[in-house]
Amino acid sequence: MKTLLKKIMEKYRNVMYLPVIKKLKGGQIMPIFIFLFSKIGILSRWAKEAGTSAWLVKTEEKYGGLVTGAYVNKLSPNDTREFEVLRRKGMRGGDRMNPLYHNYAPIYSKYLKQFLDKKVALLEVGILRGTGLAIWSDLFGGGRVIGADIDLFNYEENIKNLRELGAFSNKNIEVHLFDQFENNIKLLENILKGDKLDIVIDDGAHTDESILKTLDSICPHLNKNFVYFIEDNSTVWKKVAKKFPKWKVINYHEMTVCTHH
Ligand SMILES: C[S@@+](CC[C@H](N)C(=O)[O-])C[C@H]1O[C@@H](n2cnc3c(N)ncnc32)[C@H](O)[C@@H]1O
Repeated sequence: MKTLLKKIMEKYRNVMYLPVIKKLKGGQIMPIFIFLFSKIGILSRWAKEAGTSAWLVKTEEKYGGLVTGAYVNKLSPNDTREFEVLRRKGMRGGDRMNPLYHNYAPIYSKYLKQFLDKKVALLEVGILRGTGLAIWSDLFGGGRVIGADIDLFNYEENIKNLRELGAFSNKNIEVHLFDQFENNIKLLENILKGDKLDIVIDDGAHTDESILKTLDSICPHLNKNFVYFIEDNSTVWKKVAKKFPKWKVINYHEMTVCTHH
């Protein structure tokens, strides 16, 4: 019985935080249950195995976890969002993996598995305080981890803290100023110096226009076997699928994942 239970849990370790749990939530009980469940996951031995859902949740927490009200200093001139409204509200980050917030850990775990032992080139657009970059740097120690953002203030303010927490010991990190509404094909060519991107994460402005413009700039730089994550937009996937009919575009509510066929 114990071995059977162990086998089942081993098999499903990457889907420990399936979004379905979130869908079932009602009243106050479910969030408490999810919280306890995630703590068990974090304490489990799977959290020691790099790339599992539990590891991703634990590592995001290690590098600070949820941040709200982060400074908004700059928006693209082409961004249609209200600067004043955004500035008052502040930005939110470090909340992608945790099952209480976006709960993307099972999705990341599923699609990143194939790259774990490879020397990848990874680009994250929209880095805020660098929590995501710190996770990717730990996960892909032998590869290139590239951060891009229209404003590096929040990252630069947090970099010392991240280093004290153990981030970027692999020295595989680089960050660049980047407005995702612009045509960045040339800028990326200069940054990549012949490398092709294996993994891309768009966690920037989250509007359809910004996402599609970013795809245009990044597309010529993708490796044959790529994975492209688009966070926090539940409808843009239809436009992406139409624009790139040869790609496999999979939508998980607020997250869209694109791969080659
Ligand atoms: C949700 S936060 C990113 C959170 C981060 N990925 C994390 O791990 O916590 C959004 C980021 O997108 C950036 N951003 C907003 N507009 C942008 C643009 N036009 N081009 C590039 N980055 C942009 C913001 O400066 C902010 O750092």
